[in-house]
Amino acid sequence: MPSPTVNVPTTAPLDVIILAAGQGTRMKSGLAKVLHKLDGRPLVAHVCRTAAKLNPRKIYVVVGHQADGVEAAVQDELGKDGAVFVRQEKQRGTGDAVLAARTAVANAASTVLILSGDVPLVRAETLKSLLEAHANEKSACTILTVRMENPMGYGRVVRDDGNVFQKIVEQKDANDDERQIREVNSGIYCFDSEKLFTALAEVRPSNSQSEYYLTDVPAILKRTSERVGLFQHPDVREVSGINTRAELAEFENLIRRRTIRRLMLEEGVTFIDPSHAYISSEAQIGRDCIIHPDVHIEGPSVIGEAGEIHQGSRIVNSRLGDRVTVKDHCLIIDSEIANDCSVGPFAHLRMNAKLEERAVVGNFVEVKKSTIGRGSKAMHLTYLGDATIGERTNIGAGTITCNYDGKHKHATIIEDNVRIGSDTMLVAPVTVGKGSVTAAGAVVIEDVPANTLVAGVPAKVKKKLTEDGK
Ligand code: UD1
Ligand code: CA
Repeated sequence: MPSPTVNVPTTAPLDVIILAAGQGTRMKSGLAKVLHKLDGRPLVAHVCRTAAKLNPRKIYVVVGHQADGVEAAVQDELGKDGAVFVRQEKQRGTGDAVLAARTAVANAASTVLILSGDVPLVRAETLKSLLEAHANEKSACTILTVRMENPMGYGRVVRDDGNVFQKIVEQKDANDDERQIREVNSGIYCFDSEKLFTALAEVRPSNSQSEYYLTDVPAILKRTSERVGLFQHPDVREVSGINTRAELAEFENLIRRRTIRRLMLEEGVTFIDPSHAYISSEAQIGRDCIIHPDVHIEGPSVIGEAGEIHQGSRIVNSRLGDRVTVKDHCLIIDSEIANDCSVGPFAHLRMNAKLEERAVVGNFVEVKKSTIGRGSKAMHLTYLGDATIGERTNIGAGTITCNYDGKHKHATIIEDNVRIGSDTMLVAPVTVGKGSVTAAGAVVIEDVPANTLVAGVPAKVKKKLTEDGK
């Protein structure tokens, strides 16, 4: 789905800096926090997608911890040239992270929007409003804030008696009074670029964490009589960061519930048990589909109308047509299934498996990089790899395409109206011509002409068949 962009005020060019160099100690993980997945995509990818919707001049991503992995995740989302990477070798705080981008960014006056790689749900519309407020009020800095019932862990926004911004104080540096403050810094701000970098140079790591805090910059600007704006947003969840696995799971649940609710109310999809279905927010499911419990539909999968996906099946990056039945416990990855097909139970389709209209794949059948033509069937215990199968062909139980000689993969072609007998071994490369029959247990090592019965080990021609297979 192309993501619509949002019109942003154009007083100064917009640059976005995404902070994504930290380890995320509270995740207790060998994996950098911003690489943990939410709704099937790394946290940083969510932020990148939102940033791109603002149509900025450039997106800078500050990387450090597991930089290669983070860069790969960003490029996966934005394309190879979608972002400029800035290395922050040692993670000495959010201020230091922004400073690392100084030479890359500060070549022309711009508005700099700072986002955190661990705040995945923020919407482009919200950022647009923030940028508008920033431009309208001609501020040097505008901070996106929220009021929280439990502000534990967040930087507090201190206002003076006249309700005017004074400073941000981090949880660990706050006194008892300041800890009572419910208004917190979301970690999202916009700055005038020149003023930002000038003030950043003054930040010192004189705090309980000995870090360079970006959060010191607004107070420094204020001291030099610059305007600092506060933009309070009503939706706490939208601008909350993910710091622990418990929060990650909460967000996952929230997105899942929203997705399933939307599919039920807007798209007319039935969920037998909405609390036990796992559907990517990018998936599309057609009207009158029935989704049974423990079904996973991942990535930008598309499912047509009136299909039924039974218990325990997992569908990844695949396209299903209308009226497709997926019986229990199937795994379907990167594959395509046309209208009126039936798959499973216990089937495995992968690497661009393709089923044309009304094809049927039954239990314990694996289909890899193969096409099964219209109305053809492989009902039981079969492996079809690198095969092209025509129309109205029947593949008997236990059939194997022997596609791999230990070094190379070879193709099998089975034409229209063929009957492959049970337990046939098709030693590829091999072609079975249209209308032909292999007897049970045949080991086919050479091409079978059209309308021919073969049998035995290795299979030999037994007789020519008439057009109707007799
Ligand atoms: C930060 C803010 C806090 C705010 C909160 C909102 C500071 C000092 N504090 O705290 O006021 O309420 O976000 O979520 O900014 N990062 C780097 N390099 C570093 C350190 C961090 O790139 O050296 C990145 C992290 O990867 C992360 C982001 O900056 O994506 C925020 O860092 P984090 O350590 O999570 O900051 P908080 O403690 O949450
Ligand atoms: Ca954080």
